Amino acid sequence: MASYVLFGLVTLQGVHAWGVLGHATVAYIAQNYLTADTASWAQGVLNDTSSSYLANIASFADTFRATAAGAWSAPLHFIDAEDNPPTTCNVNFARDCGTAGCVVSAIANYTQRAGDARLTAANINEAVKFLVHFVGDVTQPLHDEALALGGNNIPVHFMGFSDNLHSDWDTFMPQERVGGGSLADARSWANTLIAEINTGTFSSQKASWIAGDNTASATTTATRWASDANALVCTVVMPQGAAALTATPDLFPTYYNGVIGTIELQIAKGGYRLANWLNMIFTKEVARRDIEPLAKRVPESELDGHSFLPEPRAPSRAEMARAALGYRCDHEH
Ligand SMILES: *[C@@H]1O[C@H](CO)[C@@H](O)[C@H](O)[C@H]1NC(C)=O
Ligand SMILES: *[C@@H]1O[C@H](CO)[C@@H](O)[C@H](O)[C@H]1NC(C)=O
Repeated sequence: MASYVLFGLVTLQGVHAWGVLGHATVAYIAQNYLTADTASWAQGVLNDTSSSYLANIASFADTFRATAAGAWSAPLHFIDAEDNPPTTCNVNFARDCGTAGCVVSAIANYTQRAGDARLTAANINEAVKFLVHFVGDVTQPLHDEALALGGNNIPVHFMGFSDNLHSDWDTFMPQERVGGGSLADARSWANTLIAEINTGTFSSQKASWIAGDNTASATTTATRWASDANALVCTVVMPQGAAALTATPDLFPTYYNGVIGTIELQIAKGGYRLANWLNMIFTKEVARRDIEPLAKRVPESELDGHSFLPEPRAPSRAEMARAALGYRCDHEH
């Protein structure tokens, strides 16, 4: 176990949000709830008919952002809510979404792009890959929080290792729950959570996870998802504040035991929402192409998503902090 964790620290911590494990688990859960029509559309778009067609690309966005060609996409993985945890938690799109975009505007942009047949197959493939990732990211509470760069700058100890709160939520606590970080681990965790959604502890709440979700008002929907996760920063992630966590000798076992149920809840929500979202894109956009003329769609000039960006404004404190770090330290490191 110790050597496994060490491996994780040196190789995974710097690269992955919700970790490969978390994103692949969200993807496997979503696969379970796609309609047959949506599934075959997605398999065609992704050119993958394997039983891991969403899980295989669930961390593409993290790999891409780490390349020179993909650096522009780094701000799209989070929204820097400039609230004041643990006293007050809230998300305000106009205040918190960076001028270059955020996870909320990105979900709106790629929702529009995934369903629009005027774009190329490569564009639509990219849009689906980004959606699978970002609908996962937005459920991770620390992806919806500006404080200390989403907890990246909150030093803590977990199972004897010195790391930061963000990477523990993304990667190390999920891996501790499951005992590994492979696709097989993700599939097995997904199956556990699917059972909870269908007939277990989550069955009575699942309807509320997607209530009001609408691809026609994607910004509103994604802002609600961000607000829902952000509220947990005050109630679960750091109810006594960040300093109390840094002062804790080890987050295992007491803190871990207190939050792992919330991590499972958020992963389950992400998968269930993603499936419903892709099903909606399929039925409301893709399948309707035959009956609704393209002329009724948004003008082609809107397909770059600029209308989803917040009103231009002076850079916020959070944006300046990230810019100063050249986005090197943006919720991943
Ligand atoms: C689809 O995948 C197959 C192999 O898995 C590959 O040979 C083919 O070139 C791919 N097609 C596209 C359009 O990428
Ligand atoms: C929408 O997606 C395209 C293609 O990835 C990208 O060039 C554009 O900047 C995105 N717009 C927003 C608002 O994120």
